[in-house]
Amino acid sequence: IKNWAVVPAAGVGKRMQADKPKQYLPLAGKTVIEHTLSRLLQSDAFDAVAVAISKEDPYWPELEVSTNPRIITAAGGKERADSVLSALQALEGRASEDDWVLVHDAARPCLTADDVHQLIATLQDDPVGGILALSSHDTLKQVEAGSISATIDRSRVWRALTPQMFRYGMLREALQEAEGNPAITDESSALELKGYRPKIVEGRPDNIKITRPEDLPLAQFYMEQQ
Ligand code: CTP
Ligand code: MG
Repeated sequence: IKNWAVVPAAGVGKRMQADKPKQYLPLAGKTVIEHTLSRLLQSDAFDAVAVAISKEDPYWPELEVSTNPRIITAAGGKERADSVLSALQALEGRASEDDWVLVHDAARPCLTADDVHQLIATLQDDPVGGILALSSHDTLKQVEAGSISATIDRSRVWRALTPQMFRYGMLREALQEAEGNPAITDESSALELKGYRPKIVEGRPDNIKITRPEDLPLAQFYMEQQ
């Protein structure tokens, strides 16, 4: 059983409102995606890292990492799930059905080796797989038209992070079947739709996704702390 990393990096970063996709913005001396990929490439857990890149992306070929022999490039798609599926297809012939795939957002550059090893160690004998997630510290409210209708049992709600770790064959099939379904916002949701119950592994709160401008200085702070 091998482990493969898949990195969707074909988003436009609309909420970031920058002049280029957020994965190419500077952070602590390199671009966001270079941090993400170097952290995955440093881990000896992965045979290769498949990266989904948008077809009209002038920034990717400029990066030294784009020619790394352990990087496999795939064409990104319309939605995140399309990009992930494309990267899985690029692993065809190399990955076996039962191999593990860890899908990790390009926009999460603060991933630690600890978290990767924790996820793999916890799930390696699991039939389905699971995801890194965070418990919620705040009290959670259900809201209807601006007014609170209920307080949600906090212990039952987790925030999904990446990496999300699933079997190559199972994940590919689930994403193929879910193609075009807007409710599929992560890999786990595609497997949930098929009736599987992926596991939760508690992740670190510094594994943030760069989404809005204020996330860049926060990521820099976390990197200095790590
Ligand atoms: N992604 C992708 N292909 C898409 C859309 C997103 O590979 N069609 C990737 C992004 O590059 C990112 C990850 O999926 O690494 C998580 O998505 P998100 O944070 O939503 O990034 P964007 O879609 O780029 O940002 P926004 O939603 O603000 O436009
Ligand atoms: Mg998006």
